[in-house]
Order: sequence, then structure tokens, then C-alpha cells
Amino acid sequence: MKKIVILTGAGISAESGLGTFRDEGGLWAQHRIEDVATLEGFARNPGLVHRFYNARRAQARNAAPNAAHLALARLEKEFQGDVILITQNVDALHEAAGARAVLHMHGVLDGALCASCDARWPAPLAMDVTLPCPQCKKRTVRPDIVWFGEMPYLMDEIYQHLSEADLFAAIGTSGNVYPAAGFVQEANAFGAQSVEINLQASVTATQFTRTILGLATETVPAWVDSLL
Ligand code: APR
Repeated sequence: MKKIVILTGAGISAESGLGTFRDEGGLWAQHRIEDVATLEGFARNPGLVHRFYNARRAQARNAAPNAAHLALARLEKEFQGDVILITQNVDALHEAAGARAVLHMHGVLDGALCASCDARWPAPLAMDVTLPCPQCKKRTVRPDIVWFGEMPYLMDEIYQHLSEADLFAAIGTSGNVYPAAGFVQEANAFGAQSVEINLQASVTATQFTRTILGLATETVPAWVDSLL
């Protein structure tokens, strides 16, 4: 086997204390997506959106990578072939675990973006509407997060990897949000084996060759051991 392509979701960071979105009491049970994760919501009330991401940024900065993040970093380092790590997560726990090349398709909490001139720079812990863009000086700064209705990042590169995958693994994602939820179909179409590693079967579970259920901190290290 030469190339493993991995997609992770909020479930891999759950045991690091970061909330998932659709589990019981998850983030979308506490906040309305249209208020905090859309361009329209940001235009309507940018302060509310900044406060939502400031809270998530503070929580993420205090979180530690768990055994699942560490196992994937080990796989990337030790596997005799290519390991491509794509994440829907905006935390930096894969990097904190030692992963070197992480494709953040939904952006990053630690990134700031200017809505006027597209400048990007490291986000301060707390952002607010008074923050001027360091490049164009306008007060149109937003979190560098891909919101619903916006095009995820790195899609061309991701589809290229999926077309070359021998094995595709989806870890800790409910399979509710496209285009990520469609990656398994893409990989299958190019003849890859596919495995879903999850706490509960996702809505796309039947599209995987194999399913491994359990807590990511137990299932992912065991899965990595089986590959090395
Ligand atoms: N170990 C493994 N899996 C877990 C664990 C755990 N400890 N805890 C929860 N899970 C699984 C759940 O069973 C579920 O399948 O993680 C998944 C979490 O699903 P979601 O909350 O929907 O998160 P995700 O799939 O990453 O959401 C995708 O939706 O809101 C947008 O942009 C946001 O990137 C996010 C995208």
C-alpha cells in the first residue's frame, strides 16, 4: 500500500475536551449556525461571531492532543508511503501532536483574515470588530474559518489525493457536511479501500469497506499499529 488519505472530524478532538457539533449538547445545540457560522450572520452581528470564535480559540489553546492525534502523527512519520492528513477541524491539535502537513479544509482558529484585502495573519487570542487589518487598515477582520455556504480550502489538492489513495479513512466525523462527506465516494470510485473509525456509525457508514467503532483514543492507535 503506497498512499493513505485520512479525513478527521470533531470526534478526534472530543477526548481533548473540545466540543463536537452534533453530539448531545454539541456546539450546534448551543448556537444557531446561521448566527455564528455564516457570512450573513457575521454581517448581521460581527461581535457575536468574534465572541463565539474567541471562546473556541481560548478552549482550543488550552487543549492537549490526545492518543489519536499522536497516533496519526506517528503514522505520518513512520509509514513507508504517503500519509495525507485532511481535517475539517479548526483546532491545531494534529500539529501539536507532531503532524507536519495538515490540510485544514475549513480554516483555522489561529488564523485571521481580512474580508477586504484577503490578508492573513496569526489571530490574536481575542478578536473584535475594532481590529484593523495590518495590510489595508480596514476594520473588516474575520476569523480565517470557512463558513457554511463558502468554498472549503485546498479542494483541488484534496481531490487529487483522493484519486491516488489506496486507503481512505474517515475518523470522528458524522458525515453530515459536504464536500467532506462525499470524499469516501470519491476514493471508492478510484478503487481505494475505505474505513470509517467512529464512536457511532455516521450517515455515510454504508459507503465504507470497513467500520471500526469505539473511542478514538483506543481505536486510532490500534488501527495505526495494524498499519505499521
Ligand atoms: N471518538 C471517536 N468519535 C467520536 C468521539 C470520540 N471520543 N466523540 C464523538 N465522536 C464522533 C461522533 O459519533 C460523530 O460521528 O464524532 C462525530 C462528530 O460529528 P460532528 O459533531 O458532526 O462533527 P464533524 O463531522 O466534524 O462536523 C463537520 O460541520 O459544523 C460543521 O464545519 C463544521 O467541521 C465541521 C463539520
